[in-house]
Amino acid sequence: MSDAVETGMPGDTRHPRTPEADVPVLAVDDLVVEHRNRSTGEVFRAVDQVSLRIAAGQSVAVVGESGSGKTTLAMAATGLGPRGSGDIRLLGHSLASIGRGQLRRLRPEVQVVFQDPHGSLDPRQSVRSGLRELRTLQPRRTSWITDADLLGRVRLAPEILDRFPHQLSGGQAQRVCIARALLMRPRLIVADEPTSGLDVSVQADVLALLREIRTTTGAALLMISHDLAVVRAVCDTVHVMFRGQVVEAGPCETVFVTPRHDYTRELLAAMPGARWRNRR
Ligand SMILES: Nc1ncnc2c1ncn2[C@@H]1O[C@H](COP(=O)(O)OP(=O)(O)OP(=O)(O)O)[C@@H](O)[C@H]1O
Ligand SMILES: [Mg+2]
Repeated sequence: MSDAVETGMPGDTRHPRTPEADVPVLAVDDLVVEHRNRSTGEVFRAVDQVSLRIAAGQSVAVVGESGSGKTTLAMAATGLGPRGSGDIRLLGHSLASIGRGQLRRLRPEVQVVFQDPHGSLDPRQSVRSGLRELRTLQPRRTSWITDADLLGRVRLAPEILDRFPHQLSGGQAQRVCIARALLMRPRLIVADEPTSGLDVSVQADVLALLREIRTTTGAALLMISHDLAVVRAVCDTVHVMFRGQVVEAGPCETVFVTPRHDYTRELLAAMPGARWRNRR
């Protein structure tokens, strides 16, 4: 039997299976991240003793109101923002002990899709030249698919290749961002409010796309959202954040149907009535 892991993508044979394939894609223990207010010097604890795990192929949500620390957590956990204290292991590597070179090699394994797709794309680059740049930076990782096939995966027509970001709708621009992330064949996709900047009419399509990508590529997903409907549509488990702390975590079905924490109940109560019961 081959020791390669098929991802369901034609021409895409994953990295050979190693003992590391069974370690969590992301393991965070007792993470504390503080921000210092530059003008007052005051220190604010944005993430307070948070632990979470994401296994290969798993889809984990972090929900909470604005300012609860979701983005700070995601950026720290992926090595893209201040790391604070605590233990962060990305694909089995402790971020505290790996060198810059090793961190650079890990980078393509984690791709982030942000809320504002236009803000994530270089306005001076056509879609084609942006993809070409990624291919130049990571020739081996990116050779598995042509631009046209890649766009097909995110259901965009090849004509889009010659457009600049300002010539794309919000939904199209977000699909381009997702395509750029996919091109790297990441093990973890972090989606930080990926649909909240989009028109309601295209939100469901982008969510369906993320769900599909998860199934076909086997990439794990860390979804940040304040929208519980989004989380329930895409994720297996949910962590509820309140003032920097995870106050409740578990399978979506359990947390949403039988919430234990008052804050989770409040979040649910803010959503229309009985929509959580017996529906997926
Ligand atoms: N660079 C920074 N300097 C100082 N304070 C910061 C910084 N970044 C975030 N904060 C503060 O940390 C807290 C958590 O911010 P964070 O962006 O993680 O929240 P969030 O849950 O992602 O919110 P939102 O849903 O609005 O995106 C907020 O009070 C925010 O003002
Ligand atoms: Mg945020």
